[in-house]
Amino acid sequence: MADVPKGGEMFSGSGVVLVSGGAGYIGSHVAHVLREAGFTPVVIDSLVNGNAWAAEKASAFRRGDIGDAAFVREVCQSFSPKAAIHFAAFIEVGESVKNPQKYFANNRDKAKIFFDTISACGVKHIVFSSTAAVYGEVTENVPIRESHETKPINPYGRSKLDAEIHMRTLHGVTSVALRYFNVAGAAPEVGLGEAHFPETHLVPRIVLPLIGAPKPVQDALGLAGGFRIFGDDYPTRDGTAVRDYIHVMDLAEAHVLALRYLIAGGATNIFNLGSGAGYSVKEIVAAARKTLSRPDFNPPVAPRRAGDPATLIADSGRAQRVLGWSPKRKVENMIATAAEWHRMPVYAETMLKKAAG
Ligand code: UFG
Repeated sequence: MADVPKGGEMFSGSGVVLVSGGAGYIGSHVAHVLREAGFTPVVIDSLVNGNAWAAEKASAFRRGDIGDAAFVREVCQSFSPKAAIHFAAFIEVGESVKNPQKYFANNRDKAKIFFDTISACGVKHIVFSSTAAVYGEVTENVPIRESHETKPINPYGRSKLDAEIHMRTLHGVTSVALRYFNVAGAAPEVGLGEAHFPETHLVPRIVLPLIGAPKPVQDALGLAGGFRIFGDDYPTRDGTAVRDYIHVMDLAEAHVLALRYLIAGGATNIFNLGSGAGYSVKEIVAAARKTLSRPDFNPPVAPRRAGDPATLIADSGRAQRVLGWSPKRKVENMIATAAEWHRMPVYAETMLKKAAG
C-alpha cells in the first residue's frame, strides 16, 4: 500500500495533471487545489455547462470535447500529462431518465474515448469523479460501503458505473473511482462556487431566496415560489430525506490525496466520499435558519420528488484509512460559503447569461 502522507505535506505534489471538466463546479475547485499543491492542472472543457471564469484557476485551459480523440491527443502531446482527473459529465438525474441517450453518449461512450486516448498517450493514473448514484436504492447495510452491490436506478448512475468499469480495464493504468455523496459549499475567497443551470441541489435552492438573490435569477431557477421541502413522509427521524453532505473543498482535497496515492504506487481502488453523518432536509433548513440569521425561515412542504431515496449515507472509512482523508468542514460552513458565493456578481451574471440562452 502507498504511504499515507502526513501534515502539511499531504497536499503537495508536482507534475502535469489533465483535468477534464475543470470549468465545472467540482472540477474548478479541484484544479485550484491542485495548483496550490504544486501540480500543473491543465483543464479541458467544452463549456457546454462549464464556465470560462472557473477554468482560469488552472495552469492552462483548452476548450474542446472529451469525445474528440484528435483534440485530446493534441492536448496530451502539448503537455505530456502522466495523470488525469475526469469530471466532464452531465449530472441531472431527472434529465437522465427523460433523455438517457444524452447520458450514455457523454458519460459512458465519450468517457471511453477519453480514457482510451489518454492511456494511449501515456497517462498512467486516472482519478474518476463518480457518484453514490451507482449504488441505487439502498435499504440495507447503511452506511454504504464500497463493497455494496451497484444497482443504479437511473441512466445517470448507470452511465457513471459503466465508465468506472471501462476505466478499470485500461492496460498499464492505475485508477481511483471517487463516489461522491452530496456535495455543497464554495470557495468564495478565490471566486469559485456552484453555478449549475438549472440548479436542482438543496443547499443553493435554500440559500438563494434567503440571501435575496435577484428576482430574474430566482425566476430562471424556478424559485419564484420560494424553496419547498420535497416530501415529509419518508421513513426517517423527521419524515424528510436524509443525505450525507460534504464540502466541495474537502472533496477537492480528497482528489489530491487520491492522485498522490496512485503516483506513489497505490493499486486501483474505489473510495466513497462523505462525512458518514446524515442530515435531513429539515435539519439543513434549521442549519440555514441559524447560519444566515433567518429565524422566520419555515419553508412549506411539497410532494416527494420522483426517484428520491429516503436515506443515503456513506461509510468513508476506506478513504480515511488508505488515503488519510477526513472531511473537516461542517454543514454550517457549506451554507455560509454558499451564501457568500451566491452573493458574488459573477454568479448572478452567469445565471442571467445562461437563462438568456
Ligand atoms: N430537496 C428539496 N427541495 C429542493 C431541492 C432538493 O427538498 O428544492 C431535497 C431532495 O428531495 C433530496 C435532498 O433535498 O431529498 C437532496 O437533494 P439534492 O438534489 O441536493 O441531492 P440528491 O441527493 O438528489 O442528489 C445527489 C447528487 C446527484 C447524485 C445523488 C446520489 O446531486 O448527482 O446525490 O444519489 F446522483
